[in-house]
Amino acid sequence: MTSLTASHAADLVAALLFILSLAGLSQHRTSRAGVVYGIAGMALALVATVVVAAQSITAGAVALIVLAMVLGAAMGLWRARRVEMTQMPELIAVLHSFVGLAAVLVGWNSYLEVESHGTAQTRIGADLLGIHHAEVFIGIFIGAVTFTGSIVAFLKLSARIKSRPLMLPGKNALNVGALAAFVALTVWFTISPDLALMIAVTVLALALGWHLVASIGGGDMPVVVSMLNSYSGWAAAAAGFLLDNNLLIVTGALVGSSGAYLSYIMCKAMNRSFLSVIAGGFGIEAPSGGEEDHGEHREVRAAEAAEMLAQARSVVITPGYGMAVAQAQHPVAELTRHLRERGVEVRFGVHPVAGRLPGHMNVLLAEAKVPYDIVLEMDEINDDFADTSVVLVIGANDTVNPAATEDPTSPIAGMPVLRVWEAEQVIVFKRSMASGYAGVQNPLFFRENSGMLFGDAKQSVEEILRALGTDSRREAATAAR
Ligand code: TAP
Repeated sequence: MTSLTASHAADLVAALLFILSLAGLSQHRTSRAGVVYGIAGMALALVATVVVAAQSITAGAVALIVLAMVLGAAMGLWRARRVEMTQMPELIAVLHSFVGLAAVLVGWNSYLEVESHGTAQTRIGADLLGIHHAEVFIGIFIGAVTFTGSIVAFLKLSARIKSRPLMLPGKNALNVGALAAFVALTVWFTISPDLALMIAVTVLALALGWHLVASIGGGDMPVVVSMLNSYSGWAAAAAGFLLDNNLLIVTGALVGSSGAYLSYIMCKAMNRSFLSVIAGGFGIEAPSGGEEDHGEHREVRAAEAAEMLAQARSVVITPGYGMAVAQAQHPVAELTRHLRERGVEVRFGVHPVAGRLPGHMNVLLAEAKVPYDIVLEMDEINDDFADTSVVLVIGANDTVNPAATEDPTSPIAGMPVLRVWEAEQVIVFKRSMASGYAGVQNPLFFRENSGMLFGDAKQSVEEILRALGTDSRREAATAAR
């Protein structure tokens, strides 16, 4: 067997491992195996690529590749070990930006290689030159859109810039115009390739990527992240064509199509138009911002909240991002155990995009050993709020915002939410009156049956536990074990 045949066989096995990995990752039970398949596939792909490359490049170049791999692996390991759960989406956005940047560099390299050596010295025949030029342009375009789009997503997710949508005048016309300009430039470039056109398409795509994601509001960021995941896959596939690397094409197509499907599923769950989101909020009017006067809010103390809970017949806890920030899941689990021992019915209502990544709340609650059968999804619990004595909104905001159902001009209008306000009493655990991730005010806080319990969620729940007469530290230690 020649080394080329062996490398093709390795590509095939790696592609199968990636498919198994995607299948494994689609369910909790099999997700660990999915990760292992992914690692094995990537290790095999790297080794096969380097072994084949080593036959046509100098030993010094191979050493450089190995050095780059070691450095990259060390940086990846270091970052993965340090990253907090709440920072995962922003880390993913940064990683997508790397894929986009790599595709841009591959495109530029491929163009310069052909221009400087001419077609005779490269693998491209004169008859395929037009196709090669189109590939270069498409690769750079997708890569650059992914690169700046992911950087804006990172800045929004890490709260370095505001998550409100950017509303430039004629934003839809700008996006459509940029796409039309890209098509025209591609045709021009395939006929008469020129450095100025390369620079023009790169700048155009960088600006479009920035504008597309900047135009999308905070509430739609989960969909944007999975959309950028899809774009990064297509960028990798485009790079695969330029590098003549079949495995990169297959892997890119797998990531691209699975990311697109995930974005579609998320759009359906969030009642969003898929086309509108991928087109940078196409057709969405400037939001009202929800800054109208909602009246006064009422404050409650931990002792009062404990009293309400002691009297309650049924309690629903709706956790959100703030529970993750406060790491309040252990005292929350302890409160749950305590109330259930007193005969109170306690359940959890988990919104599909609560927190900052899919399944964020489920992971935290499982970690604190909350029984799985009392953790319900939004659709399973929403009709039960009207028959609930007390709802504890622990660090959730956008996912319990009634404006989504009641104010058609709200940036989150139409997004399904947990209808907590239908309960007899609602206690909102947060530190201030600040808005949630989407940057919109929440009228829930001003309702007559709502009380605000200000402070760090973990400390507030521990205070309630003390007021209920439990030894919170002992029980928390038991829970952590
Ligand atoms: P958010 O709307 O993000 O609100 C979180 C709330 O937690 C804030 O109001 C904040 O108020 C409070 N908080 C923060 N730290 C706290 C602490 N230590 N103690 C107590 N409260 C604290 O939460 P959500 O309801 O979970 O909604 C998630 C949002 O993120 C949605 O808009 C969603 O679209 C978006 N998003 C989700 C994902 C995924 S896939 N889940 C990915 C990206 C974006 P204070 O600052 O006043 O305390």
